[in-house]
Amino acid sequence: MSYIEDVLNQAETLKARKHALILSIESSCDETAIAVVRDGREVLADEIASQVNIHALYGGVVPEIASRMHVESLSELYRRALKNAGISKNDIDAIAVTFGPGLVGALLTGVSFAKALAYALDLPLIAVNHIEGHVSANYIAHPELEPPFVCLVASGGHSHIVNVTGYGQYELLGRTVDDAAGEAFDKVARVLDIPYPGGPLLDKLAESGNSDKYHFPNVHTPGKYDFSFSGLKTAVINQAHSIRQSGGTIDAADWAASFRKAVVDTLLDKALTAVKDTGAKRFALAGGVASNMLLRREAQRRSNEMGIKLYFPPPRLCTDNAAMIGSAGFYRLLLGETADMSLNAEPSIKLIEE
Ligand code: KG4
Ligand code: ZN
Repeated sequence: MSYIEDVLNQAETLKARKHALILSIESSCDETAIAVVRDGREVLADEIASQVNIHALYGGVVPEIASRMHVESLSELYRRALKNAGISKNDIDAIAVTFGPGLVGALLTGVSFAKALAYALDLPLIAVNHIEGHVSANYIAHPELEPPFVCLVASGGHSHIVNVTGYGQYELLGRTVDDAAGEAFDKVARVLDIPYPGGPLLDKLAESGNSDKYHFPNVHTPGKYDFSFSGLKTAVINQAHSIRQSGGTIDAADWAASFRKAVVDTLLDKALTAVKDTGAKRFALAGGVASNMLLRREAQRRSNEMGIKLYFPPPRLCTDNAAMIGSAGFYRLLLGETADMSLNAEPSIKLIEE
């Protein structure tokens, strides 16, 4: 039997059984990660090699360095994942991998590794969208969570409001028309001399600041559920320069707090309008920015007021990781969706075709 006939049979069996032990791989940006996930919900191993310290030297992710470091880390992470999960390669039922969106060279390292592994071990291959991965981190953190729910996905590369109507089924309600929320955090952090990635440190600094001290413009966005962070980011950066040029100083904590509040208010105003309009009873946060302390507090307060249930993953599952890819991969498998050896990296793939 050929590889493809064999793995299609295996995938059918797994789908019917509704059980699968998935080895998952993530390499879309600057974290190399491999995890082992059972039935989309239970994490047996979750290994990450972060490259943040190296990219911090350059003030942002350098794609060529990212690809090289993924190549160096993948084999070791694979060994560690099997060891820490307490399994052998023969126990794996399928291989899942992020195929986009992300940096093309970085994605290709993971996709090539996954294809080689799937072929060598004679296992089904599952292609996972990175944004779907972020949404699915909530399935790991909250075993009781099931669709439908509305999810705000805010990371360094994406800001989306998604209606999750079923497993692997999405309706895109809104998105950023320019910068992502995390990108805005990172750029504004630079003005305060906070090193890359500035979001988490800016968040910490903001905790001791007064968010009413500075006023930044409200930025108009075209769609009811769309975001725009570029205008806000530019206004904040220009305001800092002009204060400094006229001999003034800015209070970093107050500045950080005022900016953070502007971003969080925008994210939640839009996302919760979508929750209200769709009549959703559940609301989830996902992506790196979902670690933001004010976003979590405000989302909780406003969800309580609205009588809806809020979900968010712990910080480790908000930023890039492979466990979320293993969860999303499991539900793709249950939908009967497998990839073959022609799988390629898709740097600009959308979650849903618009
Ligand atoms: O999801 P992620 O790890 O990577 C992408 O898919 O982009 O998100 C990383 C982004 C960075 O921009 C980082 O600054 C931001 O998430 N981030 C935060 C916080 N933690 C991470 N932004 C604001 N507050 C945080 N606590
Ligand atoms: Zn991400």
